[in-house]
Amino acid sequence: MAPELPRLLSEYMTLAQDRLPDAVTAYFLNGAGAETTMRRNRSDLDRVELLPRGLCDLRGGHTRLRLCDQDMASPILVAPMAFQSLLHPDAERGTAAAATAQGLGMVLSAQASQPMERVRAAGDGCSWFQIYWQGSREQTLALAERAAAAGFGAVTLTIDAPVSGVRDHEILTGFQPPQMQDLPNLAGLSQPRFTPLSEGESALFDRIAHILPVWEDVAWFCGASPLPVLIKGILAADDAERAVMAGAAGVIVSNHGGRVLDGAVSTISALPGVVARVDGAVPVLMDGGIRRGVDVFRALALGARAVLVGRPVACGLAVGGAQGASHVLRLLRDELEIAMALAGCATLDQITPDRVRHRFGASPS
Ligand code: FNR
Repeated sequence: MAPELPRLLSEYMTLAQDRLPDAVTAYFLNGAGAETTMRRNRSDLDRVELLPRGLCDLRGGHTRLRLCDQDMASPILVAPMAFQSLLHPDAERGTAAAATAQGLGMVLSAQASQPMERVRAAGDGCSWFQIYWQGSREQTLALAERAAAAGFGAVTLTIDAPVSGVRDHEILTGFQPPQMQDLPNLAGLSQPRFTPLSEGESALFDRIAHILPVWEDVAWFCGASPLPVLIKGILAADDAERAVMAGAAGVIVSNHGGRVLDGAVSTISALPGVVARVDGAVPVLMDGGIRRGVDVFRALALGARAVLVGRPVACGLAVGGAQGASHVLRLLRDELEIAMALAGCATLDQITPDRVRHRFGASPS
């Protein structure tokens, strides 16, 4: 008999914490520094008040949309998350099957535990591949070419996590997993080697800064990539505009779930400024702190075409493998439909700014 699954999304979060080893819980659920930004993602979402309208005709309503040439049942994608084999043996293939079963999208992390070709074969929903800059134009392009050959339909270039810190003069390039993990999608790409530092030199500014991308590199990448490129990790409206000018096919407002620069603005507060500046040129997506269907509604009302969801799906996978991840996504889908019905919206395009009240203006630029 299949194990009983929790009934509520929030129960998945608590159960996962109870079941996972402490170090794995810390890697997946913690935020950077004092976790101010991670908390702010949530508290600012709660500050968006809904203004429901009554007696609306809901007949024929639905949540379907087409995004970057992909048909989706609901405006929800699984966010890229590294090392999912730490959560459950199903790992990324399980998450891909779950997203596909729910008619949703998934972005596969470059730091996935399983090869992209195998994950892609586990479910069509997993149709975007996430890339970090790989130290050079050639290596970054090679990864996009491999994703295209594997059948992915788009890549997202994450720009908000060039470095996460320095330990013993070694640059850390992300939240560190509890133990060394294989990186099957980065095999064959060379890792940078730096010459030793001289007295007074900074490891960051005098070494690693030389291999970090700038906007010219991103524009080159958007032009050279065989797949459309969405830029993930935008908070400032100016950067959103630069992404569009660079040729991006979409912009993802994200602060990496509060895992990188603690103190950064919340994503929901940055969203209106980005949406106003992009002005419909490309789709704007958002992630960070989405925990209920009503949060999806809030993000859409502030101009997002779709949202990405990270930790709740990780908790679903941890608790019940592919089935748990699928159930978490189903709960989110259902909750969005209920929020829409209660607020008087039959379709996504009826989730307009006048259905909410908030204090987030068009800044920051
Ligand atoms: C991430 N995130 C992330 N982003 C990315 O572009 N590449 C990656 O490899 C990862 N890895 C990763 C691991 C873990 C454990 C987490 C929690 C997050 C960030 C992720 O895509 C997304 O931006 C946030 O998780 C969204 O916030 P919520 O939904 O987790 O609050």
